[in-house]
Amino acid sequence: MKTRINALLTSPKRDIPVQVAGWVRTRRDSKGGFSFIELNDGSCLANLQIIAPATLANYEKDVLNLHPGASIRVEGLLVASSGSGQSIEVKADQLTVYGFSDPLAYPLGKQKINFDRLRELPHLRARTNTFGAIARVRDVLSYELHRFFHERGFFYVHTPIITSNDCEGAGAMFQVTTLDPHKPPRHADGKVDYAQDFFGAKTSLTVSGQLEGETYACAMGDIYTFGPTFRAENSNTRRHLSEFWMVEPEMAFADLNDDALLAEAFLRHLFQAVLAQCGADLQFFDQRVLPGVVARLERLATAPFGRVTYTEAIRLLEAAPVTFEFPVKWGMDLQSEHERYLAEEVFKGPVVVTDYPAEIKAFYMRRNPDGKTVAAMDVLLPEVGEIIGGSQREERLEVLEGVLRDAGLNPAEYGHYLDLRRYGSVPHAGFGLGFERLVQFCTGMHNIRDVIPYPRAPGCMRV
Ligand code: 4AD
Ligand code: MG
Repeated sequence: MKTRINALLTSPKRDIPVQVAGWVRTRRDSKGGFSFIELNDGSCLANLQIIAPATLANYEKDVLNLHPGASIRVEGLLVASSGSGQSIEVKADQLTVYGFSDPLAYPLGKQKINFDRLRELPHLRARTNTFGAIARVRDVLSYELHRFFHERGFFYVHTPIITSNDCEGAGAMFQVTTLDPHKPPRHADGKVDYAQDFFGAKTSLTVSGQLEGETYACAMGDIYTFGPTFRAENSNTRRHLSEFWMVEPEMAFADLNDDALLAEAFLRHLFQAVLAQCGADLQFFDQRVLPGVVARLERLATAPFGRVTYTEAIRLLEAAPVTFEFPVKWGMDLQSEHERYLAEEVFKGPVVVTDYPAEIKAFYMRRNPDGKTVAAMDVLLPEVGEIIGGSQREERLEVLEGVLRDAGLNPAEYGHYLDLRRYGSVPHAGFGLGFERLVQFCTGMHNIRDVIPYPRAPGCMRV
């Protein structure tokens, strides 16, 4: 049985036989009659040094043909290392090669390779230090988000991927159809007849699991959903993906303040968890990707979050001694530059902006008594900007029907959603956290396309 390298590195045991398996990072031959192999198995950032003596029966045939990328299994003795740079090493008694790697062809040889080029190699980039570290941070964050909600009594609900409703009402959805794109069935007026499509209706990939999440919250109290969401907006920025993962909690008998408190506790838990569990990987990001990223996480893991209304935020931005690319005016949607200014310069940390103008927010948000704003909130982080968007939901049937009509939406199509308001309606609230933006923030990676294994963005589909 193989032992994983991270387990060996954290175990005090020495002078015991072990088996390890992984991919060769480098090989160096010494004159003293052995080779040094740096082996990585993905379990941690660190490589394990293997000493392969020339006395191995397959030394000339196999060991001397090992190059970066080759896969091997080693059986040998785990010993304290006398060399500098590592605490332990394995003296090989047997070395088995699973697959060689051609050094002239393998794209991840010794030469430095930038993130742009690596984006063209999504099937191989997990073998680099950076992308292995990102994958481990992603793993810890997803495990910990389940832990956070379970410890608070939230149920994990699986909401659908294929849907016939547009939660955000922005219309930027990917259509799902089995109709022949060249000659779809049409009504007399020329419009496509979706009654003949696979589901008997026009369907798309979901932009959010919220609407279905709400139905479960209004039965089970507190729930969350975590899954992929899809947006067909043509946003070629370092913060947008066409396919991204979203965590969406929803609480019955809760208002906007409860929502903001949950968001704050949630982010803090996640920051503390990565700090506690991803030490070596975070140090790597700090040294190689974004100096200061660890200190930033440490600061935010305990910092109280700022709170400000949209109206007050606009006033702060108008008074700011900087010129923004997009001029500031009440009623506008905050741009990334404004969000960052608020988080980085004004609050110097996370800030929850609440009560946005109804005009720029989704139909389901609860109308405030002022008639102009809604009980919405965005959580803004330094560098990343918006990481969470949420709201208290409109639970009053007549108000919601009116809003739908005003937005040109047909209340009849929202029958199931309106039913929640017809039968035992309750105040409820929730939010959505963009999982990749969270990973970006924790790792300091500049481009969101580098924190998801297979990025989907406009014009970008490598594998
Ligand atoms: O603010 P959004 O659009 O909110 C919703 O979808 C609500 N239905 C959530 C809810 O209340 N249950 O999206 C939520 C978060 C954003 O704050 C952002 O972090 C992330 O999802 N996000 C994206 N991340 C990557 N690429 C994109 N194109 C994103 N669009 C939104
Ligand atoms: Mg938003």
